[in-house]
Amino acid sequence: MGINLKVKIGKLQLNNPVMVASGTFGYAEEFKDFIDLKKLGAIVTKTITLKPRMGNPPPRTCETPAGLLNSIGLENPGIDKFIQEKLPFLRKIGVPLIVSIASEGDSEEFVSLARRLDKIPEVSAIELNISCPNIKSNQKPETSNQSYKLISQDPNSTYEVVKAVRGVTKKALITKLSPNVTDITEIAQAAEAAGTDAVALINTLMGMSIEVKAGRPKIAMGTAGLSGPAIRPVAVRMVWEVYKKVKIPIIGMGGIMDTSSALEFFIAGSSAIAVGTANFINPRTTIEIISGLEKYLARNKIKDIKELIGSLKI
Ligand SMILES: Cc1cc2nc3c(=O)[nH]c(=O)nc-3n(C[C@H](O)[C@H](O)[C@H](O)COP(=O)(O)O)c2cc1C
Repeated sequence: MGINLKVKIGKLQLNNPVMVASGTFGYAEEFKDFIDLKKLGAIVTKTITLKPRMGNPPPRTCETPAGLLNSIGLENPGIDKFIQEKLPFLRKIGVPLIVSIASEGDSEEFVSLARRLDKIPEVSAIELNISCPNIKSNQKPETSNQSYKLISQDPNSTYEVVKAVRGVTKKALITKLSPNVTDITEIAQAAEAAGTDAVALINTLMGMSIEVKAGRPKIAMGTAGLSGPAIRPVAVRMVWEVYKKVKIPIIGMGGIMDTSSALEFFIAGSSAIAVGTANFINPRTTIEIISGLEKYLARNKIKDIKELIGSLKI
């Protein structure tokens, strides 16, 4: 039986729905000795900014019982070096390339980055990272005891940024959402109204771990983003909630470790999935999931992965 794993994310055609999550796969070259990169549905780069960023001071990662805490702080070489040094390898791979971008300031930075990327034919899509919990830059608090807010914690800011970027690029646009909100559906709807082609969820969940003897946080910055199996039930729940409220495709992620956990996301409503933390544990996770999905569909006499999307029975 011919199995169809092809999906569409806006105008982006993917040979299969398995991609990598931003920041967990570098700029792909790091993984070339472990897997055949051409087999991936799409590659999402580490988030880049206009200027280079050193990232946060160490320690920046620590393990927790069922996940990883990280506060990398968007370390990246900046767009110029990305284009000079990282793109030559990426553009030759031959699978859709999704470049993740973030702003250290206002929406103008997103617009400048998108304008630059729009001119590069091998860039298939732009992912707006409006949900990184580890940079303190997006919206300045009005008083000193108010904390900084992420763009994706506010529907109006989300709308404005997506709308501004939509105005300067015809490439597929993906908006990455934060789980650190009361109602993720209102943010997803704002992004949809502003013209995003898809939403990606979830980014990491804010967490903290303490070194008891020292009475200090295990991560230098104090708080950090939690990823891995610990956040999977939150991510699946959010995909299901968003699926019921938007018409655009969802790229689901959060603790996907194997075929079974990937299937949870399709059933909840994801059109594609991304593997993050699992890449650090087993760099072949994506490839194993692609063949695992084929086997699952064949075993269950399902011809097309699309039949599974949102098939949850309540
Ligand atoms: C070390 C690390 C770095 C990350 N860097 C980024 C990043 O640069 N941009 C981004 O959008 N998400 C970043 N993320 C979040 C992941 O893309 C993903 O949304 C999250 O980890 C949940 O998926 P997972 O549980 O499979 O890792 C990072 C996650 C980790 C663990």
